[in-house]
Amino acid sequence: MYPPNLRVYADRGQLCQSVAQRIAECVREKPDAVLGLPTGATPIAVYQELAEMCRQKTLDFSRVITFNLDEYFPMPPQSPPSYHAFMRRHLFDHVNCRRWFVPDGTARSAAQVGDDCATYEQRIQEVGGLDLVLLGIGRTGHIGFNEPGSLADTRTRLVVLAPETRADALPDFGNPNLVPSQAITMGVGTILEARAIILMASGERKADAVRQAVEGDITALVPASFLRRHPNVGIYLDMAAAQFLSAA
Ligand code: GLP
Repeated sequence: MYPPNLRVYADRGQLCQSVAQRIAECVREKPDAVLGLPTGATPIAVYQELAEMCRQKTLDFSRVITFNLDEYFPMPPQSPPSYHAFMRRHLFDHVNCRRWFVPDGTARSAAQVGDDCATYEQRIQEVGGLDLVLLGIGRTGHIGFNEPGSLADTRTRLVVLAPETRADALPDFGNPNLVPSQAITMGVGTILEARAIILMASGERKADAVRQAVEGDITALVPASFLRRHPNVGIYLDMAAAQFLSAA
């Protein structure tokens, strides 16, 4: 038997529909909900579902506030592979959200980035903290861009990307030399302070990271494993991502 907070769907389509429903419920219950949002291939269909609900006026994002988990560094916000551009393309050009924030990847000194990361954290606090954070998982077991070695109390900061993560990003850049080696990410500690968390994963390439996160040791070597310390985390998988779980 899977733990009660773990759901397995036949395929990515059903998984994304269910995650979108969960987010929609959160926003209907609390129209000024504060959401943490990821990028990646996995959430694209979630964003399509949310956009469709907004188009049909069964969902209203006008009072929702969102904070993205991460952004490459250095990365001009207007550059096509930026997470800013991704979020516009897949969500914010299609929903009536007025207050959305993505860490700023504009090139500047590490000290300035540090100050801006502190401001990002402060802004989250000022609006009452994160109600719901949606997460994907990287092949390294990362959440946001918290790569192996990230401790449970880390905050928003500049990090170095793991080689596997840079390899996975290659299709968006076309040339390995163009893939940034750093990023700004919300910390594990920032994520764990959210009132609710959803971890979603799809496809067999994620199955090993999912197994380590769900059934392995709780360790900084697999940052997603820290989610098991959170009292309200839902794990949404498709069958391919769940295939190495012992309960499967
Ligand atoms: C990137 C993002 C993560 C995301 C991961 C998974 O690394 N920084 O936040 O979870 O991609 O992406 P995908 O859904 O494409 O597998």
